[in-house]
Amino acid sequence: MKAYPTDVALSELDADLVAVGLFEDEALGEPLGSVPGAGDASGEFKSRVTVYPGKPERVAIIGLGDRAEFTAERARVAGAVSQAALKAVKGEALAWLLPEVDDPGVIAAALIEGATFASFDFDRFRTGSDGAAAPPELKSIEVSSPADIAEAVTVGEAVGNAGNRARYLQSLPANVATPAFLAERAEEIAADHDAVTAEVLDRDGIIAAGMGGLEAVARGGEDVEPRLITLRYRGGGSGGTLGLVGKSVTFDTGGISIKPSAGMHEMKMDMSGGAAVLEAVAAIAELGLGIELIAVLPATENMPSGTALKPGDIITQLNGKTVEVTNTDAEGRLILADALVHCAREGADRMVDLATLTGAVVIGLGSTYAALISNDDDLADELTAAGESSGELVWRLPLHDEYKQLTKGSITDLVNASAERKAGTIYAGSFLEEFTEGKPWAHVDIAGTAWDTGREYWGKGPTGFGVHLLVALARRLNQ
Ligand code: BES
Ligand code: MN
Ligand code: ZN
Repeated sequence: MKAYPTDVALSELDADLVAVGLFEDEALGEPLGSVPGAGDASGEFKSRVTVYPGKPERVAIIGLGDRAEFTAERARVAGAVSQAALKAVKGEALAWLLPEVDDPGVIAAALIEGATFASFDFDRFRTGSDGAAAPPELKSIEVSSPADIAEAVTVGEAVGNAGNRARYLQSLPANVATPAFLAERAEEIAADHDAVTAEVLDRDGIIAAGMGGLEAVARGGEDVEPRLITLRYRGGGSGGTLGLVGKSVTFDTGGISIKPSAGMHEMKMDMSGGAAVLEAVAAIAELGLGIELIAVLPATENMPSGTALKPGDIITQLNGKTVEVTNTDAEGRLILADALVHCAREGADRMVDLATLTGAVVIGLGSTYAALISNDDDLADELTAAGESSGELVWRLPLHDEYKQLTKGSITDLVNASAERKAGTIYAGSFLEEFTEGKPWAHVDIAGTAWDTGREYWGKGPTGFGVHLLVALARRLNQ
């Protein structure tokens, strides 16, 4: 999808469908107000009425609701409604006449994001009938406003496309999106951007580096080899290096502590943190933001086999701490632990990890907020603000010494899971804190927000949650 700013009048907009916003209790301007059918438009949030003024041919009047309640998040939803109207007429080119609002750039970007997200369709494995024309897809969005929205349009385009690329990676099954596949995507991003480089370790490299957690989890996979992927973006700036870590378990069976079979196929999405980090780096590089990044993806399957890690096994993580693995299904924290240590040692001044880490977060926060756990108030506040502006919301949970005590081992430094089912999400965060090398760090548990949120612009399936959050964070740190 390509997005363009313009300042032409409604009658000059040339697209398969032109969207116009209408607030509740406000009147449509002329000449649109007198077009037959236009009187049916109420302005009710999410409503849509299509009319045919002649020039342009087709206009969808999208209800924006109460002006006082209109936000960027509502604009994303309005963007999704406009995409539905475009799809209904099998169109590929969308245009928006931006409503008069206080923050035109913010609203323009949000409309583009919402429309782009709503256009996502994972159709790679649908074979279709021979000779059938390719289904229409959203190819362009033109946004018209008298204000200078050029930069915002670029951001909306980058975020929308990057989010959909992450969703594509999430959707790919584990027999396609292997650790090696993710490494190839990282190398592709490096090839596309001069300021990005990629480095990849294979199983031997992981073992030689001393990444005992990643080595242990990867031991169950017999022919799918793990990768430790490091991407660097050198965008300059004076804010130091931001470390990003993304859990990349390409399939989580639970290992020997195997999961129940119902719904297990969805565990192909256990690499959602890694997908979001990869595509966020690509978007940040595309936007040329003035920030230094180092992104680390520990990528492996979590499989049961004759060679697999067993409950009770003791491992040594990269920083020397020992862990008794009481549950092989708590694998994410083992691989993230090594990745965080590696990220800090490679030069991160502060770190953010994204991970589909616990079922407990789904119980606690559902699909609306991701859990945020942090040892640093400034970083936590930056992420919270980035969540508000991006719509990828985070809610902070506490750290406390009493939680930390739960993670202590009797024969090792740590145990990866406790029989007491207390504060599962915080337990995982407390465990990770042991591997932050004294750096400001924030952990975002996206197990509830990465898939099937049902939010209007994402619908069922993958969300790419984290891409926009990280781009918004990088934009804040860039200023
Ligand atoms: N990948 C799962 C968490 C998950 C759950 C992701 C639901 C997406 C949706 C993680 O590796 C896991 O299995 N966590 C266990 C930890 C437990 C054994 C301590 C969990 O939450 O049940
Ligand atoms: Mn697991
Ligand atoms: Zn997992």
